[in-house]
Amino acid sequence: MPLHKAFGVDLGSSLIKIYSQSQDTIITEKNMIAVRNRNRVLAVGSDAYEIFEKNPSNVSVIAPVHGGKIADIHHTEMILQALLEKADAQALLGCSLYLAIPSDLSEIDKRAYCTIGNSNRKNKVYMVDKSIADAVALGIPILNTKGTMIVNIGAQSTEISVIERGKVIVSKLLETGGKQLNDGIVNEVRRHYNLYIGNRTARRLKFSLAYLKEDPMEARKVTGIDSLSGLPREQAVTSDLIYETIRRPIRSICDEILFFLERIPPQIRSSIEDQGIFVAGGTSRIPGMEWFLRQETGKKIRLSDYYEFCTIQGLKEIMENRTLQKWVR
Ligand SMILES: Nc1ncnc2c1ncn2[C@@H]1O[C@H](COP(=O)(O)OP(=O)(O)OP(=O)(O)O)[C@@H](O)[C@H]1O
Ligand SMILES: [Mg+2]
Repeated sequence: MPLHKAFGVDLGSSLIKIYSQSQDTIITEKNMIAVRNRNRVLAVGSDAYEIFEKNPSNVSVIAPVHGGKIADIHHTEMILQALLEKADAQALLGCSLYLAIPSDLSEIDKRAYCTIGNSNRKNKVYMVDKSIADAVALGIPILNTKGTMIVNIGAQSTEISVIERGKVIVSKLLETGGKQLNDGIVNEVRRHYNLYIGNRTARRLKFSLAYLKEDPMEARKVTGIDSLSGLPREQAVTSDLIYETIRRPIRSICDEILFFLERIPPQIRSSIEDQGIFVAGGTSRIPGMEWFLRQETGKKIRLSDYYEFCTIQGLKEIMENRTLQKWVR
């Protein structure tokens, strides 16, 4: 067995996905770290999420990736090292890291990925554009395509990219994703019912009530803090309130898609329109997403079956197939 292990890493704002080539497994953990008194690590990954919103004041739960980009190098390094070690203890001896990165990054942001990948100075770091990894997972013939649009709707970002004949010709990272939907739900529940709910409760409401097609008119009871009395109160929240809340940000993604299509040359646009727009990312799991995007954009929509695992699946295929290594930098 070779000593130098290889890992693929998709550092999401919510979930970090790590593919271990030697074990042929993908591990998924929350991209979070819990620290006591600013320096003692209490928990990493999904264990840290268990503490989130329940932490005492001397414990901080930090999510170091914001809007799809590294915002806190130090804590990203700590999470990555801990989870690589969890995936394979030998990773500490040095490894090859294939990092999926957004295409729409400044040089400084790109440097942050090099830094976190090689903090122990023993690793070899390779970069792959996220949209290229998505395209590989989606089975797109990257070198021959005359125009393919990929939209990845994640937790704090939506990346819209256009690939033409092997190149990402244009890409934009929008700060809209599942977290913005959760924040919207927190705000609407407070405005509508005078009730303060936490982020976890908003997320649960999104998972159980969010839909973007016909209205099944359901309701879920949640407990929050009454904003007038300050006391706990139970309240039934309806699915149409959730629909009204999440519709606006998803519509803004559609506006961006249309804006993008207007700006690219007609021959590329017509190839995209023939193929349909490819959509991936965890937030595309919301029921009725495909229908809603089609209604709003008037274009054919093709949802990936991999959802949030699309990028890591593409990285895995790139790492395993020599002919795909040309997409690695
Ligand atoms: N069934 C579902 N309904 C609604 N949202 C979902 C569902 N399943 C997952 N999500 C949302 O998908 C998001 C996670 O998706 P993903 O892993 O693609 O994001 P990420 O890669 O961590 O973030 P980003 O790409 O923005 O950095 C979370 O916001 C989660 O709430
Ligand atoms: Mg992502």
